[in-house]
Amino acid sequence: MLELRAITRAYELGGERAGVFGVSLEVPQGCLAVIAGPSGSGKTTLLQVAGLLDPPDEGEVWLEGEPVSRRPERARCDLRLRRLGFVFQAFNLVPVLSALENVMLPLQLQGLPPAAALTRAEAILERVGLADRGDRRPGQLSGGQQQRVAIARALAPEPALVLADEPTANLDHAHGVPLMELMSELARERGTAFLVASHDPAVIAQAHRVFRLVDGRLAVAP
Ligand SMILES: Nc1ncnc2c1ncn2[C@@H]1O[C@H](COP(=O)(O)OP(=O)(O)OP(=O)(O)O)[C@@H](O)[C@H]1O
Ligand SMILES: [Mg+2]
Repeated sequence: MLELRAITRAYELGGERAGVFGVSLEVPQGCLAVIAGPSGSGKTTLLQVAGLLDPPDEGEVWLEGEPVSRRPERARCDLRLRRLGFVFQAFNLVPVLSALENVMLPLQLQGLPPAAALTRAEAILERVGLADRGDRRPGQLSGGQQQRVAIARALAPEPALVLADEPTANLDHAHGVPLMELMSELARERGTAFLVASHDPAVIAQAHRVFRLVDGRLAVAP
């Protein structure tokens, strides 16, 4: 599904070299993979390369059997829209739209007719346990519920891979654990691959596969 081959993405700042260096990893279909590591170890940098938001300096990102990281921006943008889903720490829902409209948004961007977008958005909202909250705006939902909407929105276009950067960082433990259980179930059920960056033990506990970054390099498994 996703394969990173010898990815290097370096930042030079004031003579210091930071980023990620020579990282190779594989996330198969239906796998919830977690990139763990302390602050500054390169988790977000790696997710941005894997999410085709940032090209690597060296190495290649393979998605569904094809090398994709050096394609022109327009092609990468199209892949992001059609094959990737994103979940962020700060939920990033559109505040003036209802939960249902937030989930419909990427489907409409893809050109799905409104009736089909509505049916699909309702089904996925039901799957994440929010069938009765579709008409609420994000500000009228709890943090845990907002993050469920964000996951529903990421999954609605049926992406191959969902990337999530610290998805539980703004949630307390009581909301973080069920959110990760949901991601684990969705990965298995739908065959979607998940790549999640986090240092939250509740996230790591749910992982099917853990990659540890230390100073931008993959730590060798013990
Ligand atoms: N745009 C940038 N310009 C310069 N340096 C950067 C940039 N983005 C990240 N870095 C540096 O690269 C290193 C890795 O940063 P990154 O954000 O990937 O870490 P992280 O593991 O996501 O940390 P956190 O857990 O705090 O989110 C850090 O030393 C950071 O300062
Ligand atoms: Mg980060």
